[in-house]
Amino acid sequence: MCGIVAYLGEKCAQPILIEGLKRLEYRGYDSAGVALLDGGAIRIKKTSGRINALEAILDEPRTEDTLGLGHTRWATHGEPNEINAHPHPDYTGKIAIVHNGIIENYGTLKTWLQNEGVKFLSDTDTEVIANLIGYFYATGDGSEESKQCDGQTKFEWAVQRALRELHGTYGLGILCADFPNILIGAKKGSPLILGVGDGEYILASDAAAIVEHTTQAVYLADNEMVTISPGGFHTKTIDNVPITKELSEIEFSLEQIELGGFEHHMLKEIFEQPKALTTCMGGRIDAQNGRIKLGGIDSYLRELTRTKHLILTACGTAWHAGLVGEFLFEQLARIPTETEYASEFRYRNPIIEDGTVVVCISQSGETADTLAAVEQAKERGATVLGIVNVVGSSIARATDAGVYLHAGPEIGVASTKAFTAQVAVLTMLAVELGRRRHISSNEATGHIKELAQIPDKISRILEQSDHIKQIAAANAGQENWLFLGRGFNYPVALEGALKLKEISYIHAEGLPAAEMKHGPIALIVDAMPTVFIATAGPQYNKIMGNIAEVRARGGKTIIIATEGDENIKQHADHLITVPDAPEILQPMLTVLPLQLLAYHAAMLRGHDVDKPRNLAKSVTVE
Ligand code: F6R
Repeated sequence: MCGIVAYLGEKCAQPILIEGLKRLEYRGYDSAGVALLDGGAIRIKKTSGRINALEAILDEPRTEDTLGLGHTRWATHGEPNEINAHPHPDYTGKIAIVHNGIIENYGTLKTWLQNEGVKFLSDTDTEVIANLIGYFYATGDGSEESKQCDGQTKFEWAVQRALRELHGTYGLGILCADFPNILIGAKKGSPLILGVGDGEYILASDAAAIVEHTTQAVYLADNEMVTISPGGFHTKTIDNVPITKELSEIEFSLEQIELGGFEHHMLKEIFEQPKALTTCMGGRIDAQNGRIKLGGIDSYLRELTRTKHLILTACGTAWHAGLVGEFLFEQLARIPTETEYASEFRYRNPIIEDGTVVVCISQSGETADTLAAVEQAKERGATVLGIVNVVGSSIARATDAGVYLHAGPEIGVASTKAFTAQVAVLTMLAVELGRRRHISSNEATGHIKELAQIPDKISRILEQSDHIKQIAAANAGQENWLFLGRGFNYPVALEGALKLKEISYIHAEGLPAAEMKHGPIALIVDAMPTVFIATAGPQYNKIMGNIAEVRARGGKTIIIATEGDENIKQHADHLITVPDAPEILQPMLTVLPLQLLAYHAAMLRGHDVDKPRNLAKSVTVE
């Protein structure tokens, strides 16, 4: 949600900023801008629209401009127009900032500054930060400390003084016209990484904007700031306490974030699932000996085995994965489990007793609600574990321990490979806890052997992409769809509906199949598509009844069935098959046709699947 990038080095900054913004564009794409220091003045160019709209208004890059800021926006305060786009200058023209996050007390601060005579140009909360820094830099605050500091120290002091007034979240890049060789970054609640290259520094919201230049990085923690100059960088808290930060290795390559011949990141990521799951499970499952090893949470396995209450919390697609996890933990390990929306959990009064374990699931590791749920659970004394994809992300760092997905970077806004990897991790954990609590070693070994076959089975489903495209073409004109599944495939029905909604803008509802007749059946009209997940399993005959109910009312059926099911053909207007697998493992297969259906429907309707309307990857605001 908003991408920021800043550069200080020896190279021409503008093309580096633009390249970085393109890599971060999935975080927000309604307006964009850059600021460069130009002979003692700050030159800002910004516009509504995407990075290519920004490129169209930029001047020729100048080699002497070696320090700059860039921003791609997902609007929170103020419509996405040029004035509200970042970078924001302060009222004196000396300061410019880019910001990712939300300032909750911006109204009070704005009124105070206006009473001091400060004029505002935009509707954003960000301009308050720029003006607050500019105000303290220009006038001090009357304290002895402010009177004593001078030059660069005064710039740093003004930043710290302003940040201490803010309630809310920020990842910031800050320039001051008086210091053409200084870049300041600061973080609270929004991600910020400093890439440390050879004589150059790239400050960015995520590693995607950095890996082209260096794989060495410093992950800033909340309430920390960094001052960067050509001679090096130093980190301290916003209360001016120096801190030493370790350099970390960024764990992915440029190749992983490029399209590699695919038309879209989403399609690439759908097709990457066999590999992503192989990597995710590699070294963790031992099919030979029927054992699972999840190194990251080794020291918590005893506690997990004994827990009487497990809470899984997440948002969106990750919540759907959590729901599959709930069913797995109940069935295999007999642990009472609830799956909570993080946005609800954080504001409720959840019952966390001694021994409750909370597991937070997040691809990005930056989702604001999930991060707040981590804090809430920790405050109440729970052990908090994470299932996260992005290494070093805020949730990964805030949790007591966790398991990384190792699914590789997910750039497409619609989450795909992260879902299957989240389900794979939850399955591995449930099988291991099951073996320790409830099921026999033989049964666990059986599940592990089946798990090892999932990547190959996914590859077989992917071969049907063209067939699924034809089904999408026959139905993409319909504005209302239902997705129905039972048991372990009920969360998959929710996920299928979400995928279709978010990228094709078709209204879709996912339901447990039996719930249809308690209301939603009223929606069925001639030719309306209902997607049924009717794979082999204990509820097969029940869902056949639901299929008949839809057909009796003139609805069209798109059925996901098990390979070799001859009987179902006569009930399907369109049939997609998946290889046979035990019911508990089916979600990692049955979701594939739904991801492809959504992708093809969106393409046929002419949408930009990687940048769907109103959305952004990583929801770092509430
Ligand atoms: C849907 C989607 C979102 C995310 C949700 C949580 O395709 O991507 O629903 O799943 O915003 O994001 P993470 O997993 O990053 O916490």
